[in-house]
Amino acid sequence: MMIKRTRQTRNESPGTTEKKPRYGFIAIRPFLTIGIVGVAGWMVAITGILRLEGLGRWVTLTVAGMIGIIGTWVAVSYIPLYFLVLRPRGNENFWANQFTKHGISGKLVAIDAGCGTGQVTIEVAKALPDAHVTGIDIFKGMSGTSPGQPTRNAKIEGVSDRVTFKKGNLLDLPFPDNSVDVVTVGSVLHEIDSDENRKAALEEIKRVLKPGGYFFTVELLRDWRMILAMLVFAPVWKTGKYWKELLLNAGYSSLDVGLETRMLNMGVYCMQK
Ligand SMILES: C[S@@+](CC[C@H](N)C(=O)[O-])C[C@H]1O[C@@H](n2cnc3c(N)ncnc32)[C@H](O)[C@@H]1O
Repeated sequence: MMIKRTRQTRNESPGTTEKKPRYGFIAIRPFLTIGIVGVAGWMVAITGILRLEGLGRWVTLTVAGMIGIIGTWVAVSYIPLYFLVLRPRGNENFWANQFTKHGISGKLVAIDAGCGTGQVTIEVAKALPDAHVTGIDIFKGMSGTSPGQPTRNAKIEGVSDRVTFKKGNLLDLPFPDNSVDVVTVGSVLHEIDSDENRKAALEEIKRVLKPGGYFFTVELLRDWRMILAMLVFAPVWKTGKYWKELLLNAGYSSLDVGLETRMLNMGVYCMQK
């Protein structure tokens, strides 16, 4: 008799085939490819040392060695960061704690802008069990090209009746003025290409928020801790001072600044319109 192996997961009854949400793989895929090219570079360099002589040996060693060093450094500096800092599953109460801290609950309209594969959107939906959450993303590059994966994730996590994913831009949110209670933005603002556009995004969020509505943004902070991680990507992130200044000048009525340390520091900012 053939036995089909099954495992029970979050919202499924015993005996159903296992389905796990997929949050991370899409985002690390390009870096995995770069890492594989890097390892191939090392192998070619070593083969060159063992098999070649003269100029050919030095050219192969230099070119393949450079590819090896750069490829493995890029992969090693990003992939652990992604799983240890940006994508931790250890603190599933993070959003629930934020909402409790600010007294946010009830039948709310929420947006998670820059939702990617939907982890924050789904955590927000779980933390606000009476809310409807719309995840919005441009869906280009690292997060895949359509809302398909986050939609599947929401189904697996049992929140698909209260979560919708849409293609859209943080600079032009598909919501009327004063219509939203909560906006969450997880590690997205640093990806917007200029200060002007970041300011425009903060204006756009303020436009859709109801008076008294809340806006949360979380950003990895560029500080001394990044030296420990030897990050190739350190310049991509901004300092705590940068975010505080930008957010203070965005015209919200209050700004609460928190810090979450997951190997590196993350700034947690909550503003009220
Ligand atoms: C680092 S990922 C974070 C994804 C998600 N918030 C999370 O924490 O899992 C940044 C996301 O922001 C999205 N993004 C960047 N610029 C955007 C914009 N102008 N409007 C909407 N989404 C944007 C990217 O496509 C990407 O999915």
